[in-house]
Amino acid sequence: MVKHRGITIWLTGLPCAGKTTIANELSKILREKGYKVEVLDGDVIREYISKGLGFSREDRFENIKRVSFVAKLLTRNDVITIVAVISPYREMREMAKKMIGEENFLEVFVNAPLEVCRKRDVKGMYKKAEQGLIKNFTGIDDPYEPPENPDVQCDTHIETIEESVSKILSALKRKNIIEI
Ligand code: ADX
Repeated sequence: MVKHRGITIWLTGLPCAGKTTIANELSKILREKGYKVEVLDGDVIREYISKGLGFSREDRFENIKRVSFVAKLLTRNDVITIVAVISPYREMREMAKKMIGEENFLEVFVNAPLEVCRKRDVKGMYKKAEQGLIKNFTGIDDPYEPPENPDVQCDTHIETIEESVSKILSALKRKNIIEI
């Protein structure tokens, strides 16, 4: 096990932008190198600590508050914490950064045009939202505010997963979190 300090890598982006894929690949690589890593993924969080919350602005804020709290605990115990949540409002990402601490927070914009995300539609949710079967779906009838100045931007429609992950690894090296 390597000795290192913690950080929260906050992946934000539209549904199907590639947050979970990047989070899983990044965590695999870091674990193989001997780093302590946890992934907090929106879908999993909403099955456990945010069960019962919906997708109104208020409930999304509550969800992000809970995720941020857990991320803060992990980060201060030197865990590399990868958060993969839509987190659609700038204000809620600012709140997360404040709670966790600016020096411990890496904002990653997982970007792909809405059209690309809609085509990917991994879980068929865009289709349902377009049919009016899901309300307040991010990108369809609910807002997504892209970060204005993210620490890292991954353009998943034109990059490979490896390229996206290596951008994040480079940022972790620059911040002296990892060595290799
Ligand atoms: S967040 O807005 O509160 O950050 P979060 O990342 O936790 O969202 O959850 C998003 C997941 O919830 C999506 O991957 C999708 O599977 C599911 N989901 C269900 N309803 C919605 C909705 N109205 N908008 C966005 N995602 C939804």
